[in-house]
Parts: sequence; C-alpha cells; structure tokens
Amino acid sequence: MRILIAKSYEDMSAKAARIVAGQLYLKPDSVLGLATGSTPLGMYHELIRVHKEVGLDFAEAITFNLDEYLGLPPSNSQSYHYYMNHNFFKHINIRPGNIFIPAGMPGDVEAECCFYDRQIKEKGGINLQVLGIGVNGHIGFNEPDIKFEATTHKVKLDDETINANARFFKTIEEVPRFAISMGIKTIMHAKRVLLLASGESKGVVIYKALYEGITPTIPASILQLHQDVTVLVDEAAGSLLRRMQDE
Ligand code: F6R
Repeated sequence: MRILIAKSYEDMSAKAARIVAGQLYLKPDSVLGLATGSTPLGMYHELIRVHKEVGLDFAEAITFNLDEYLGLPPSNSQSYHYYMNHNFFKHINIRPGNIFIPAGMPGDVEAECCFYDRQIKEKGGINLQVLGIGVNGHIGFNEPDIKFEATTHKVKLDDETINANARFFKTIEEVPRFAISMGIKTIMHAKRVLLLASGESKGVVIYKALYEGITPTIPASILQLHQDVTVLVDEAAGSLLRRMQDE
C-alpha cells in the first residue's frame, strides 16, 4: 500500500488525475471504476482540463460507477447519473455506450445487480477503481457491518450516511434510504485501487481503516488485503497518517 499526503485538496486532485491519466495512456481501453461525492470533484475537473488541453483520450475508456440511489431517475439533479454527466462525462469524449451506472429505478433490483456484475466481468474487470471514504468508513455504499463477500447489491443507507449526504438535498427527508452499490468483493477484484480522502472529518476514519484491524465495522479496512492500493489524501485528512509516517 502506498500512502501519499498531498499539500492541499488541489494538489490531491491533480495527483489523482495524473494516476487516472497514466492508466489511460498505458491502456486506452481501461475499465475505470468511478466514485461520486465531494472528494473526486477536483480530480474530474483536472481530468477535463487534461482532456481539453493535452488531448487525454477517453474514446476507448469504459467506466463503472460505484453506486446509485434507489428511487431517483437520471434527470434528478441529486442522482449519481446526473452528477457524473454534469461533472465529467459531458465534458470528455467518452462513448455513452461505455458508461455504466447502476439504475436508480430498475424494475427488478436483483436482476439489475446481477446484470451490473456480469457487465463488469464481460468488460474484463476493473483496471483502476477510484474510491472515496465515508465518515463511517464506507466505500461505495458498503455501510458498516456489511458482508465482505457481497457483490453488487441493494443497501440500506446508514443514518450517518443520510446525515452526511443531506447537505446535497433541500431537506433530510428527501435523501433516499436505499441504494444499489458495488459490493466489497466487486471492489476487491479491481486490479488497482486509488482511495481518496479530503478534509479533517476523514482524518480518524482513514487512520482506522489503514492502521487498525480489518473489520466489517470499518468497511474500508478490507483494502489492507488488496495487493495494489494507493491512498492519496490531503494534509487535513492525513494528519494522523503523517504521524505514523514520522514515527
Ligand atoms: C460515492 C461513494 C461514497 C463516497 C463517500 C465520500 O460514489 O461511493 O462512498 O465516496 O461517501 O463522500 P464525499 O466525497 O462526499 O465525502
């Protein structure tokens, strides 16, 4: 596991974009696993800049998002379909047919989850998975006490996650209670993982995930068992990690 502490959020975002761009230069038809939320926004902005100014090519890239709220159509501005299109996809030259995000309003949730895992397998598996981390240690929407062996599945969101994500909605009542998420097993199958964390609120949980026991209570702790993880945090999220590096 490589742990990199960037100087600032901007520095973290630029370094993250460089890792994704490097993956695409080496393998233009890479399968990228993507996250939403506040953390990767700067990385997406930087990737758009590199696409526009340096010609980073997404024509062959394939993407799979980690999760989507259940009950929100793609037109809802809080859906992850909307987020991805608005913040990234519409600014680059990715083919619409190469974009995969779990459906927010599937007729059959079980079938949608199986379809999603099958698609990932058919595309050859994820080459580089980008992850954020929740204040409760979740990755994707794999909430504490999740089963590590889960593949893509329906999840009930934790109160902590609902509270944390309420900032994106008008009222907390509007935050969906359920989502579809790639499971831990799906994430662990990715060949490389890039875990991002930004801000003081992530300091304790990122420390626990990396340096304490591997436990379903902190789902991200399973990444200690992954063979190729880069953890990239900004100074604010990395204060406890810095202390470990200095010791
Ligand atoms: C989003 C996702 C979540 C977020 C996490 C952190 O697709 O899977 O695990 O990465 O909740 O969210 P932010 O970055 O908003 O703090």
